[in-house]
Amino acid sequence: MELATTLTSQTVQNAVREVGINPNYWYPAGWASQLKNGDIMPVRIWQQAIAVYRDELGQIHALEDACPHKGVALHKGKVQGCHLTCAYHGWEFKGSGECVNIPYLPKEQKLPRAKARSYPVQEKYNIIWIFPGDPTLAATCQPPEMPEFDHPDYLMVPITARMNAHFSICNENSMDVFHGFLHQNLQGWFNPILKSLQETEASVCAEYDVSYTGRMAKFLGLSDKADEVTTRRISVKYNYPHYETALEGVSSLYLMRLPIGPTASRSFALFFLKVRLPKWLLKRLEPILQTLLRHFVFMRFLSQDIEMMESEQQTYLANPQRRYVEINPAIIAVERLIIRQYEQFMQKSSQLRNNQQHDASGALSSANAPSQSEPTKENSFVR
Ligand code: FES
Ligand SMILES: [Fe+2]
Repeated sequence: MELATTLTSQTVQNAVREVGINPNYWYPAGWASQLKNGDIMPVRIWQQAIAVYRDELGQIHALEDACPHKGVALHKGKVQGCHLTCAYHGWEFKGSGECVNIPYLPKEQKLPRAKARSYPVQEKYNIIWIFPGDPTLAATCQPPEMPEFDHPDYLMVPITARMNAHFSICNENSMDVFHGFLHQNLQGWFNPILKSLQETEASVCAEYDVSYTGRMAKFLGLSDKADEVTTRRISVKYNYPHYETALEGVSSLYLMRLPIGPTASRSFALFFLKVRLPKWLLKRLEPILQTLLRHFVFMRFLSQDIEMMESEQQTYLANPQRRYVEINPAIIAVERLIIRQYEQFMQKSSQLRNNQQHDASGALSSANAPSQSEPTKENSFVR
């Protein structure tokens, strides 16, 4: 649906600062190259603690970070072969979560039915992706496509950040091209104009015209001379729950959001810059260009953004009733999408719960079988 681009005053729905995520998407958990064989990494995706480990054959697994025995965090344990062993009593779990060994249980005795929840996990674009929702839906979607990843003409810069703010605040910052004001001293962009705005069930796509000038614009290949003003079209697409931003013919940015909890988020971003250098030279210069761009460009912009986002979060927490005014329709559309995705997920979960209760009560009354009442939770521990 095409939306109007006029800047008009609208009240922000404060509910957007309280909603949870729709977990039925792939979320980034870390850089794959940083998890070596035998390493374990604790991750938190919207309040779910997960232990991600790479077994000694190089395969990645993700288990709930709580031992089914007494709840000790499994990331405190160690990898043995393809299994994860808990630090406390040495219970050993397969990547699928089943307990396969208890060191002090006599061999002739049957193992308890103890199982840690396991999560669908995959590696793509050097990112570890986890699907924290219903595992039967994991194959219905995929992480974002990044055609530039293997393209030899692009310089890639990976960037990670942590913000003490709700993911809605972070996602609005990414859609909010009007905040170039904040980055004036860094020779960011100026004079933004919202040119088009589209909204679908799961996305918001905005196009802005923005102007650049200065040495930074020249360095990034936006203009031939530093004193020249150049105007470019930038597209910003919030494809729930991640972002794709493109500056025509110059660069792309894929920004993957990891919502940790109500006031904490992380981001894993891949920036691709089209470089006019011979491929052999680009390969050689890549590490130094990555470091320069990360430290002298991205981290400087990011630290200004993080200060604003965290300030916004603090003011909200101090008075959640306070009313706020927004004039950018793209931000209002992003807020609508975040709320809609959460509500749709909650509605489906409650329908599922009702159906399960209905099935269970039907089964009980028709089958008069007390054995049906056996716990069925994945984490149950039944001898
Ligand atoms: S708490 Fe993990 S083995 Fe006992
Ligand atoms: Fe910014």
